[in-house]
Amino acid sequence: MRRLIIDTDPGVDDAFAIALAARHPDVDLLGVTTVAGNIGIEHTTRNALNILSLCGREDVPVAVGADKALCRPPRTDDAHGNDGLGGHGYNIGTSSASVDPRDAVTFMVDQLSAATEPVTIVPIGPLTNIALLLAAHPGIKSKIDRLVIMGGGISGGNITSTAEFNVWVDPEAARRVLVVEDVPVTLVPLDITMKCAVGDEWLSAVSSANAVGRELAAMTPHYREFYRQEVGRDDFIMHDAIAVAEAIRPGILKTTPLELEIDCTDGPGSGATFADLRNGLKPPAHRLVDVALDADVDELRAFVRDELTSRY
Ligand code: RIB
Ligand code: CA
Repeated sequence: MRRLIIDTDPGVDDAFAIALAARHPDVDLLGVTTVAGNIGIEHTTRNALNILSLCGREDVPVAVGADKALCRPPRTDDAHGNDGLGGHGYNIGTSSASVDPRDAVTFMVDQLSAATEPVTIVPIGPLTNIALLLAAHPGIKSKIDRLVIMGGGISGGNITSTAEFNVWVDPEAARRVLVVEDVPVTLVPLDITMKCAVGDEWLSAVSSANAVGRELAAMTPHYREFYRQEVGRDDFIMHDAIAVAEAIRPGILKTTPLELEIDCTDGPGSGATFADLRNGLKPPAHRLVDVALDADVDELRAFVRDELTSRY
């Protein structure tokens, strides 16, 4: 059984990621914590509640996290529409659940403290909550099995030519988690998620299988148009679902241990993720992160599709 906490900024691809975990028989979804990113914290939190409700999991607690980066004003884009779910968020129903009374960090500390086995945390938004958790509660690290993080782009960015969105929103938080801290991390960057893009046939299979798939697919047109305009890709890129797939099935992604650095300047490289690909004999200055750069992409696409079409 995979004990998971998902930290998220839903978010169209976040919705697919949450749905992938919500009814998986091998997953004990301990909770969902929200963070500002794709849209403001009020929307990401409401979206998290409603996505879990859509999945029949109103029992999963949702705790509210950071409403902005550690030390930068909010910055976002329009990839996920004016409601964070491609303009379709108002059509998926409204949860009857309320948010957990604890803030995201307190919630995670309580869940980790109570867990009988170490927990996997899956951050699929900016890393603000995770940096706060590790900074304020270093003693809790022993209860974290690993962080499976969707973020970064070794060979380039999406929100800018150099930066991936989650890191770009809060570079300082990303640097604290990926460079300064020593909690085991599997990083799922654009380098692998962009390879796992899917098209109309895949989305039609998901959409026609059940009501949850229909609503998920209905969220995607605006997001796909953003990627068509910004990145020149005409397919659906389910970044966050690839990270959750690795959390559910460890090893589905092929990783390489790399030393990372994050550009925390305000220059053209702001939010960029650098990997030291040199192969020298000198020991690394910072800890190594397992970076997913390869996978059986057809297997990954089929795994997500088959889970979404069979669990609902
Ligand atoms: O760059 C992709 C990431 O940024 C995904 O997590 C997406 O939801 C956005 O948050
Ligand atoms: Ca996200």
